[in-house]
Amino acid sequence: MNREIKEPLRERFLMDSGWRFALGHASDIKLDFGYWEGKPFAKQAEGRGAIHVKFDDSDWREVSLPHDWAVELDFQYSDDNDINYHGYKPIGRPNPATSIGWYRKRFEVAKEDEGKRLSIEFDGIFRDSMIWLNGYYLGRHESGYTSFRRDITDCVKFDGPNVLVVRADASQVEGWFYEGAGIYRHVWLVKTNPVHVAHWGTYVVSEIGDGFAELTLQTTVVNEDDLAKAIAIESAIYDANGSRVATIQSEPTPIGSWKECEFNQRIRLEQPWLWDLESPHLYRLVTTVKDGEAETDVYVTSFGIRSIRFDPDQGFFLNGRHVPIRGVCCHQDHAGVGTALPDRLQFYRIEKLKELGVNAYRTSHHPPTPELLEACDRLGMLVMDEHRQVGCGEEIEGQLRSLVKRDRNHPSIILWSIGNEESGIQDTEAGARTARTMKRIVNELDPTRLVSYGGNNGGQSSGINGVVDVRGWNYWKIGANLDVYHNDHPQTPMIGSEEASTLCTRGIYENDEERGYVSSYDENFPGWGSGAEEWMKYYAERPYLAGAFVWTGFDYRGEPLPYRWPCISSQFGMMDTCGFPKDNYYYYQSWWTARTVLHLFPHWNWQGKEGQDIDVRCFSNCEEVELILNGRSLGMKPMPHLGHLSWKVPYEPGALVAKGYRNGQEIASAARETTGVPAELRLLPDRSAIDADGEDVSSIAVQIVDALGRVIPTADNEVVFTVTGPGVLIGVGNGNPSSHEPDKYIGSGTVWKRRAFNGLCMAIVQSTKQAGDLCITAESSGLIAAKVTIRTEPCVLYPSV
Ligand code: GAL
Repeated sequence: MNREIKEPLRERFLMDSGWRFALGHASDIKLDFGYWEGKPFAKQAEGRGAIHVKFDDSDWREVSLPHDWAVELDFQYSDDNDINYHGYKPIGRPNPATSIGWYRKRFEVAKEDEGKRLSIEFDGIFRDSMIWLNGYYLGRHESGYTSFRRDITDCVKFDGPNVLVVRADASQVEGWFYEGAGIYRHVWLVKTNPVHVAHWGTYVVSEIGDGFAELTLQTTVVNEDDLAKAIAIESAIYDANGSRVATIQSEPTPIGSWKECEFNQRIRLEQPWLWDLESPHLYRLVTTVKDGEAETDVYVTSFGIRSIRFDPDQGFFLNGRHVPIRGVCCHQDHAGVGTALPDRLQFYRIEKLKELGVNAYRTSHHPPTPELLEACDRLGMLVMDEHRQVGCGEEIEGQLRSLVKRDRNHPSIILWSIGNEESGIQDTEAGARTARTMKRIVNELDPTRLVSYGGNNGGQSSGINGVVDVRGWNYWKIGANLDVYHNDHPQTPMIGSEEASTLCTRGIYENDEERGYVSSYDENFPGWGSGAEEWMKYYAERPYLAGAFVWTGFDYRGEPLPYRWPCISSQFGMMDTCGFPKDNYYYYQSWWTARTVLHLFPHWNWQGKEGQDIDVRCFSNCEEVELILNGRSLGMKPMPHLGHLSWKVPYEPGALVAKGYRNGQEIASAARETTGVPAELRLLPDRSAIDADGEDVSSIAVQIVDALGRVIPTADNEVVFTVTGPGVLIGVGNGNPSSHEPDKYIGSGTVWKRRAFNGLCMAIVQSTKQAGDLCITAESSGLIAAKVTIRTEPCVLYPSV
């Protein structure tokens, strides 16, 4: 990913490389690197063990960020509920030996930087972290999901290496799903002059008029100098082509020593380009801070101009246009890498969702990584940005403030969610008071967006539901009549904050508890859930509902339902953990996109079931579909709106073909053929050229095909991967919810391999900083191997330390 260098006076360095990592211990002090010795919390720089500058970490493993150590651990059966909900990885209090991670990094700071303000920004660490620099204790951060920063100006060294140490303690879980462990998001070193824009210190609000937009710019500048100053700022707006389209200067304003000052400016743009789903235009606000003639800071804020509105009778409007919310909830992990996604994978996932017709993403159930929001801004995806927990007090309120301050300039965000399914308090007066406090905080920091909450308490209209602006329904089926509720609360917009929870295993057509698979005929869902057709029809009849977020877009690790072990991941996704579509994907695509869709299932490899009826189905948005078996028509049927077609077809090997018609014309066809035996591998990279920046990735789909090149829908051959040239494998996956194979192979000389699951598996390859051709070879015993070349292209390297 070519990250732009955009703030010359405020140097921002990526601190992702060159870390050393080792597991500590949560209950055996001898195995936790002796950091408690030497009064580490009593006297600065006297601590011993791993926090001491001179600690020898040469036998710790070298890692790069983002890093999730949980994904590297073996799966392990446990009857502890938290552990099975976290995907059977031995993380959490019962596993002290694998729940503490230590990270150490050395870096230099130039002598010329003396006099600057230096800080380190952590986008997210799972979880409870303690930070030391050069033996100085820089405090704790409790929360695995919020971004935070530490000022290091006082303890940094300009005359030798600095040693940054992080102890992450993942013993305490926050969710009921896989959460990963470690420094799983980026870390940055930021250098500014003493007078600079405050951290997350800009806020851009736009109001759209007829042919113009009026922007309000709120900028907080801090003076971290012992002298009072008179500071002016210049705010310049650049459009997506990089042209400066408006500029405004402030008057010099007095700002006391070690004080903050807020500038409020208004600026008008003629004929603005609106941010919208298909044309996500972004603008940049470039704030230049001036101390007399000297420029002391340049700070860049990306923003978009769009209007949003929730109407209690008609749903959601973007730029005055009605947009039904076709959303998904997602957790943040992905096959092969756990929660440590390279930035490109965020874009990959959002691109996949857009192809399906999804237009909205709920960051269930916690603040996302900043790059996820960047992908949504850049690709055109609406976001419901969710806080982790409903609560009060300094810690949780601080988390909420940091979420809103960090994220409020993203045009993609249309709603804040203060939390999800707080069954213990959601119906109570205390819950209502807490929600009021949280809503007040959100409104104070961002009065432009409404507040919602995922309530699973049916028709309950008091408690939290009575406070939030947009009533979020986690499942229409939960004990309520939504029409009555709407009637009783005519001023309250409503949205399905969670729907469906349909369980399907990709390519499986029968429930199989032993192997942990569920049928893809969309027949399995928990009591609160419903099949795709059922909820879609329910919402379609109720225009007052703004739409819904389907649980979920992708399968995720943990929360293995309806079965537990051997299952290690959930099966709610429209796509599996790799992003391979399940059948239901095409149901949504039929009704959520304008493209012609015709999807026929199941596969046609039912050897041994000759003569038995197979339930053949079709998802399509064609008007009529004809089914043909081995050249014989089995009849044409009209496609019901929001429905599907089905036929009982006695199995005979051969070709099952569907033809789709509109206005009597054939416009699409789909075939399922009985395949031969596995003969060959095929590799399909999602991109064949990537940046040579040591971060960019290509996700390579592997297909097991027969001699005629047809994907074998039941194949499970083991595939061995090798890479030559400037690239490394960083993860493999296959979407099998019960696979206990490793996602990562640690250490040099290890063989990377993965079984196919129903014909497919995947490898993620990452560039190094060298340009050239990297070649991935996939081999499998008895099959013709496949090779693919990916170009790694020279690019401007983002500065790093
Ligand atoms: C919801 C919950 C989600 C997930 C889902 C499974 O009630 O909010 O986090 O657990 O159920 O159906």
